[in-house]
Amino acid sequence: MKKLAAAMAVALLLAGCKPQTAKEIRIGLITPLTGDVKTFGESVKNAFEMAVDEANKSGGVAGMRIIPIVEDDRNDPTEASNAASKLIKQDRVQAIVGSVTSKATIPVSDLAQSGKIPAITPSATNPKVTVADGKRKNYMFRACFIDPFQGKVMAKFAREALFKDKAAVLYDASNDYSKGIAEYFSDAFKLMGGKVVAYESYGKDDVDFSALLTKVKASGADVIFLPDYYNKVGLIAKQAREKGIGAALIGPDGWDSPDLVKIAGDAVEGGYFSNHYSPDDTRPEVVAWVKKYREKFGQTPDALGTLAYDATNLLLEAIRKANSGDPEKIREALASIKGFKGVTGESAMDDNGNAVKSAVILQITGGKQKFLKVVNP
Ligand code: PHE
Repeated sequence: MKKLAAAMAVALLLAGCKPQTAKEIRIGLITPLTGDVKTFGESVKNAFEMAVDEANKSGGVAGMRIIPIVEDDRNDPTEASNAASKLIKQDRVQAIVGSVTSKATIPVSDLAQSGKIPAITPSATNPKVTVADGKRKNYMFRACFIDPFQGKVMAKFAREALFKDKAAVLYDASNDYSKGIAEYFSDAFKLMGGKVVAYESYGKDDVDFSALLTKVKASGADVIFLPDYYNKVGLIAKQAREKGIGAALIGPDGWDSPDLVKIAGDAVEGGYFSNHYSPDDTRPEVVAWVKKYREKFGQTPDALGTLAYDATNLLLEAIRKANSGDPEKIREALASIKGFKGVTGESAMDDNGNAVKSAVILQITGGKQKFLKVVNP
């Protein structure tokens, strides 16, 4: 026993004296790997790990090897809080990528702020992710545009490209993303001379939208805005068509999943939604990315994966600039990033940690997403 203790003491002493050559940096990822939006979580994980592997293969970041730690939040705010606490307190990560949806990222942003750990969400677009009650949460950043812009893009499109006058809006009252963008869209649609003839909410576990759709039908809406994630949108679209509602269906980025068409079938055919990128874009960055992702994962990268790749590389760029694994220095470097060239386009951080960048509008044609146009901020 004594011998063992002595040997251990020597080992500890040696370890303590060892010069720190192999430096490491721990980066956490929070993403919905299970639950109602798991296609989002899977692409984000794929892309995050791809960016980390690429960096590690080329010698790491600022001389440090990246240790990734991945947590599932199931798209649930409480799970997201638990994941952030674990990463910050237990795993002692120096930075976080995530989470993915606004409802999971809002609690993560509060913990990043109190724990003083910089975090960047690839894709959460609600304003409350980086600002609460008018106050900037300065440890929180995002690699995407925000919903006031996205709502306006789709309102303008409905008015000026589709020539729609009467909009119905159905949203999930318990989801900040859904509720927020419902408002941004409606405000913009009205400002542009349109009328919002139905504005109805549902709950997060609702699966029967019959009563709401009866109201929509009676309202005579010529366009229906569905600001939610693909699973809910799929159900609502299907039930709308079953009720004989022929109005055009439009929506925001939450529609982006191969599962939308699987759930909705023909019901979403011809529908339009705003998104962060299109795999059909011919910019060389996009072509190279789509090729690389397809080779590795056998599918076309969606906006989530693409934003996650950009967000991770943006964070790595900040770590390089800071030349340090110190969370405070990484935060400062993130705040000062300008002209970052990602796959989804060039962006700069505004004063609220939001990326300023363009949106695209896609149409579902023949069950596939077709690129229609780019809309600049
Ligand atoms: N913007 C959505 C949110 O804030 C998440 C999302 C981004 C979904 C991109 C699909 C594509 O919750």
